[in-house]
Amino acid sequence: MTVKTFGEKKAAGQPIVMVTAYDYPQALAVDEAGVDAVLVGDSLTMTTLGRPDTLSATMGEMIHHTRAVSKGVKRALVIGDMPFMSYQVSPRETLQNASRFLKEAGAQAVKLEWGSDALSATKLLVGNGIPVMGHLGFTPQHLNRFGGYGVQGKDRKSATDMIRAAKSLERAGAFSIVLELVPEDLARRITVALRVPTIGIGAGPYCSGQVQVLHDLAGMNPDFRPKHAKAYADLHGVLKDAVSRYALEVRGKLFPTASGKRVTRNSIRGKNSR
Ligand code: KIV
Repeated sequence: MTVKTFGEKKAAGQPIVMVTAYDYPQALAVDEAGVDAVLVGDSLTMTTLGRPDTLSATMGEMIHHTRAVSKGVKRALVIGDMPFMSYQVSPRETLQNASRFLKEAGAQAVKLEWGSDALSATKLLVGNGIPVMGHLGFTPQHLNRFGGYGVQGKDRKSATDMIRAAKSLERAGAFSIVLELVPEDLARRITVALRVPTIGIGAGPYCSGQVQVLHDLAGMNPDFRPKHAKAYADLHGVLKDAVSRYALEVRGKLFPTASGKRVTRNSIRGKNSR
């Protein structure tokens, strides 16, 4: 998969499948499942590092996890998420930070959230050979400005602003745009207005593709089930069950077994006497 194939899929009317992943075994599984793109999201902080929001993600953490994901992905496009304040401080820092995702971590593109610096950062990166995915609607790095989680673009002005922002991101060279928590009719209008594909999360069925957080779709976090997510498995339950059975067997002296047999006092005595 390349950024070019992304555009071709939209033109051919084929939905694009994107999912997040944060480590090597997850990357192996999602790539073998045949997804088109793997996003190493800054949701890493919440899904994997147990923090309350995405604001604390550091470049070091994002590079560390993106490198692990890239090792496991053979086919899909790997996209690294630029953390909060990694593309706002100066053009030099923006270039340095974004290029690390490609040079050190093996990603093929970066994603950055909408804000006053998003257009200039997109132009700068694309002009230097770094493909950029935009992100509009609810942008979690702006959580404090929004005052909480919620659907964006509900009134006429914010909807018009979002369409304008999407078009300007496309003009700046973004190869695709994530629409997060956007009314489905607005997501449809944006998708129709653009040549590049839109990737929705909580934005209805009319986007060019969908992205889900792996932990939500695989049921890895029982305490957090966002409304827009569908759990296709209960991996938390599966893991808990496996570890519970292991604990039972260790406590019951059923595991480990000596040479495939159950460990008994007699077999230990026999071994010691040889
Ligand atoms: O960090 C993330 O997981 C994301 C997706 C929700 C799009 O940005």
